[in-house]
Parts: sequence; C-alpha cells; structure tokens
Amino acid sequence: MEIDTARIQEDQRSAYDAMRDRASVTRLGDAWVVLGHAEVVEAATDPGTFSSNVTARRAIPNSLDGGEHAAYRAVVDAFLTPGRVAELEAGCRAHAVAIVDALPREVTVKTIAGIGVPYAVRSQSSWLGWPAHLEEGLVDWMAENHAATRSGDRARTAEVAERFDRLIHGLLAERRGCPVADVTGELMHAKVDGRPLTDEEVVSILRNWTAGDLGSLATSVGVIVHFLAADHTVQQELRDLVAAGAAGAIEDALHEILRIDDPFVSNRRVTTREVELGGQRLAAGERVLLNWTAANRDPHAFAEPDRYQPAANAAANLVFGIGPHVCPGKDLTLMELRVVIEELLRRTGWIELATDRRAVRETPPVGGWSRVPVVLRGEAPTVHG
Ligand code: HEM
Repeated sequence: MEIDTARIQEDQRSAYDAMRDRASVTRLGDAWVVLGHAEVVEAATDPGTFSSNVTARRAIPNSLDGGEHAAYRAVVDAFLTPGRVAELEAGCRAHAVAIVDALPREVTVKTIAGIGVPYAVRSQSSWLGWPAHLEEGLVDWMAENHAATRSGDRARTAEVAERFDRLIHGLLAERRGCPVADVTGELMHAKVDGRPLTDEEVVSILRNWTAGDLGSLATSVGVIVHFLAADHTVQQELRDLVAAGAAGAIEDALHEILRIDDPFVSNRRVTTREVELGGQRLAAGERVLLNWTAANRDPHAFAEPDRYQPAANAAANLVFGIGPHVCPGKDLTLMELRVVIEELLRRTGWIELATDRRAVRETPPVGGWSRVPVVLRGEAPTVHG
C-alpha cells in the first residue's frame, strides 16, 4: 500500500485513521503496522506468536516473554498496587499546587514545559526517593531521549539510554554505602526467583519506569489541557466533577480524552512463526508495530471515535495496552494526571487556547503535542461557547 509519510509527519492521527480504514494490517518500511482494534488486541494477547523480545539490550520487564516476564512483572507490580499509589497522592498534590500557583495568569503559558515536565520529574523523584538536585539532569535527559526517539537513530537512542544508566549507577553506588529506605532502596533489595536483583536489572527497571513515566506523563498533560481548552463543554463538566470530588469519574474522563488523542503511539513485537493477521500473511521473524493510537480510534470498536463518551468507550480503551504487558503504571498515571488537572481547574477560573501562539503537533514517532500555549484566566467566562 502507498503510505503518505508527509501526512504522517503533519498529522499522525488522521494519517493513521486513513491507513487503518484502508487496511487493518499494513506494511510500512521494514515492519508490519497493526492499526485495527481487533487485530491489535489479537496480537497483544498472543505473546507466543508476537514476542516482545525486540531489542538487542534486555529491557525489564518490557522485552521479556513467558515465565521470565511473569517473574519480573511480579516484582514491578508490587510497587504499583492501589494502596501504594494512594500513599503518593498527597506528595503529587503538593507539587501540582506549587507548579500551578507559580504560573502567571492572563498571559500565554507553556503547558508541557511549564506544567507537564516539572510535574512529571518532581512526582517521579519523590516516588523513587531521588534527590532534588537530580531534577535538572532528568529534565535534560528527557529532552534528549525525546529528541533521540524523534530522530529514529537507534545509535543515538542507545547512547541516551547509557547516559541514564551512568546517572542511576552513581545513585545506586551512593546508596550501597549509605542505605536509604525508599522505593529505590526497596527495589535494590527486591528478589526474583529467590535471589536479589543485579544492579543491571535495577537500572533497567528504573529506566523503563522513567522513560515510561516522565515522557508520557508530560505529554499526556499537554493532550488533556489542549482538549479542555478547546472543548468548553467538557472543561465545564470536569470543573463540576472536581467541585463534587468525583475522583473516579475524573480519571475515567482523562482516560477517554487520552483515547481520542493517544500520545503513546506504538509498541514493537516480532513474530515467532508464520501467522495470519487482518487478512495478511506475516512470516516468522517479521517486525511488527502495534499502533495503539489508530486502534483507539477504530470505528469498529468506537461508533463515533471523536465523540467524548467515557462510560461507553471505557471497556475497549487501549491507552494502557492489553495482555501480559498491559501497563503496570496505569493507576499511578491516572492518579498523577487527576491530581494535576484537579489543581489546575481548582486554581483557575477558566483555561483557553492562546491566540498569539498556536499549538504544535509532535513529530513521529512521538504523539500528542510538542507545544500547547494556553491562557489561565482568573474568572470563568459568562457564556461557555
Ligand atoms: C500516560 C502514561 C502512560 C501510558 C500511555 C502508558 C502506556 C503503556 C502501554 C500501552 C504499555 C504496553 C506496552 C506493550 O504492550 O508492549 C505499557 C507498558 C508499560 N508501562 Fe506504561 N504507560 C504510561 C505510564 C507509565 C508509568 C507511570 C509507568 C511506571 C511507573 C509505566 C511503566 C510501564 C512498564 C514497566 C511497562 C511494561 C510492562 C510489561 O512489559 O509487562 N508506564 N505502558
């Protein structure tokens, strides 16, 4: 099939929609792209055929399969239970309040650089017990990781990953001399198959939490704030939910907004055998991309993909994936996003898209927006358009 790469560069969502409407599984460069909802679910829930062992470097638990994956996944899950997430809420709220209160009102502010990035880095650091002085290094690392991902240059991405490893190895070395009772300290003593994790394994887990959390959380803040600033009806609905203290309904709303504009575009797989998917025959050893963004907008699963309908669309929502690799950070992410959006809405009268600068879409393979300029108003408008 003819692929319009210029259109993908310009507007990934509509380009993937158009590709999916022509074929649910299609060839793009040297990989198969899976775009249909049913086909993405089929591949993600069949790890025997669609293996996650796609990287030269072992990523824990992301690149593991089968029993080995289950053993490490149990270690990760123990850190992200609902009880542990609840313990983090007050700390996240303090960061959200400080960030939102420091932003000027009635002038254009940057949503991602001004709210998303500092909130993600501070929430992550306090969860893991990392010192405040690492904040600057982490912000720089995030920007470089993002740029490396955008460039599609694997060597550059590997170099950025190694920089992170050096940062964290240093942190672990300090802690060996002087143990600290926090999540990083706890992870250093966690056991898999009855033996302690090696330093390499601890760093790999922390790299995945960081790469998963920091980038996606900051980008998600951009997507949500853009959506609310553009759709005044939903903004008012969320303001009412915040006033009512309806935490569950707020998280459902954020989950639905991310479905409509899913910034976490795709994950890789490799076929272990010949298989038919979406009418295509894939040979063994083929590279496969599961495109969550396209699947989340498939009219076969969502009658009106662009319509905001949290209750109707929740069951089929694939923002956090499905199958054995389903995101273990889902509860943590939704709590962190809820808290920052609650404080943003509570501490402003209204949020509008800026008129002096326009929002800019991210460059593939990263989704969402790279810039979301907005104005935080002290007062609500008298009529919501
Ligand atoms: C908006 C934020 C996030 C989104 C959209 C997201 C999305 C996803 C998706 C779609 C997967 C499935 C990957 C696959 O099937 O290959 C996944 C896996 C994963 N996520 Fe997230 N995630 C987010 C935040 C987080 C956070 C906060 C953490 C941890 C603190 C995290 C840690 C992970 C890990 C470790 C995996 C791999 C799980 C496995 O291989 O078993 N993510 N995430």
